[in-house]
Amino acid sequence: MSGSANDALSEVRRLLRERAGIEPDSFGQASLAHALRDRVSRSGAESPDAYVRRLGLDAVEFQAMLEDLVVPETWFFRDGLAFRQFSSFAKSWTSSQSGTLRVLSVACSTGEEVYSLAIMLREAGISPDRYSVLGADISQRSLEFAGRGAYPGRSFRDSSESQQAVRDRWFRCEAESWQVRDELREGIAFTRGNLASPEFLAAVPPFHVVFCRNVMIYFHDRARRIAVGHLHRLLSSDGTLFSAPAEARIFQDAGFQGLGGECPFAFRHRSATAEEPRAVESAKRPPGALRPSPKLAALPAPAIASPAPRESKSASRPATASPETADPPASLLETARREADNGRLDEANSLCDQLLAKGSTSAEIWFLKGLVRQAQGQWNEAQRILEKVLYLEPKHYEALVQLMRLAERSGDDRAAANYRRRAQQVAPREAK
Ligand SMILES: C[S@@+](CC[C@H](N)C(=O)[O-])C[C@H]1O[C@@H](n2cnc3c(N)ncnc32)[C@H](O)[C@@H]1O
Repeated sequence: MSGSANDALSEVRRLLRERAGIEPDSFGQASLAHALRDRVSRSGAESPDAYVRRLGLDAVEFQAMLEDLVVPETWFFRDGLAFRQFSSFAKSWTSSQSGTLRVLSVACSTGEEVYSLAIMLREAGISPDRYSVLGADISQRSLEFAGRGAYPGRSFRDSSESQQAVRDRWFRCEAESWQVRDELREGIAFTRGNLASPEFLAAVPPFHVVFCRNVMIYFHDRARRIAVGHLHRLLSSDGTLFSAPAEARIFQDAGFQGLGGECPFAFRHRSATAEEPRAVESAKRPPGALRPSPKLAALPAPAIASPAPRESKSASRPATASPETADPPASLLETARREADNGRLDEANSLCDQLLAKGSTSAEIWFLKGLVRQAQGQWNEAQRILEKVLYLEPKHYEALVQLMRLAERSGDDRAAANYRRRAQQVAPREAK
């Protein structure tokens, strides 16, 4: 890369840090360079230098660059335990209190989290006049997607019969995608907001529930402190905050107190007294149990979670299960995912081995094992395993993304660019 392009890249990194709170290394050098080249050519700028001069002054162009970089990866009912815990909180709150249950999903991306929350409320028999769910994100493109509410099959990653029934109740199948039914939109709103900016939701009253997941991992320390300040302000005194499993440590360190129940990534304000009645039932946790592993918390990649089932070629409507790979025993695979989600990486790895020893050729087991080995810092082995996933399923989007990150990590820009291109081809919406 030329000296001028390097200077331009440094300026992009500075602007990302300053304006969006994002630690540019979380994107990787190759992705930044790719985004810069792309924006220079699409904006018609004469040179990278000329482009970044404009970038500093032109909020619209900065937003365009940001849109190309942010990671909108999300899916319905991601980390299901949080949604089950949310449902018991909501039932308890609405049966014991009057008024509106206020729920915030910050960094809501393309809306799957927001609609999942609304579905949990409706499935619990709570009518939309008893709740409001606000989704906020920095990405206008993602919010527009959320507003359209038309999702591909891969946004639904739990292929169990009960989850398919939930999907069918709240979505209509239209032109190869799943359209949110109008009645689910009641009580839901989306807004653009930058969690790392001092003005974030400045005049908005507190929420009883806040979901803030898989965004802090992209922030630098100062941005995290600003964000945490907002979350303390925006969470009501008796409210519950849900983090991603891999981010629980950030919230513990930031003065939130774990609820201590089944869900190790549900928090409240530390100032609340232990005797205060809690809406969420809590069971005693054995010491040290269910704590996300520090190694997992340190992963720059998204938290370990259920990988996307491939779409069925034979089905005429969007599918959520793979006909091409031998299905592993669902319960054992689910247990392995849960162990991984909760930071018990050795247990998750050994369950994957048990499944593979039974002769399964499921790409999903190999993918989970690849994520676990990555979280354990076994980079070379993780790479070999993820390549095997691609051998089994050449269009496995998440494996392509993880391989891209591993290649970036080892400084192999060429391989990273290659994986990025392939990821964009199979899932242009998510890879952009
Ligand atoms: C990986 S997605 C997480 C989506 C969802 N919360 C989940 O866990 O599935 C990260 C989201 O954070 C958003 N984001 C990044 N920086 C942000 C900021 N400064 N303020 C608000 N949202 C931000 C991105 O636009 C993206 O939609």
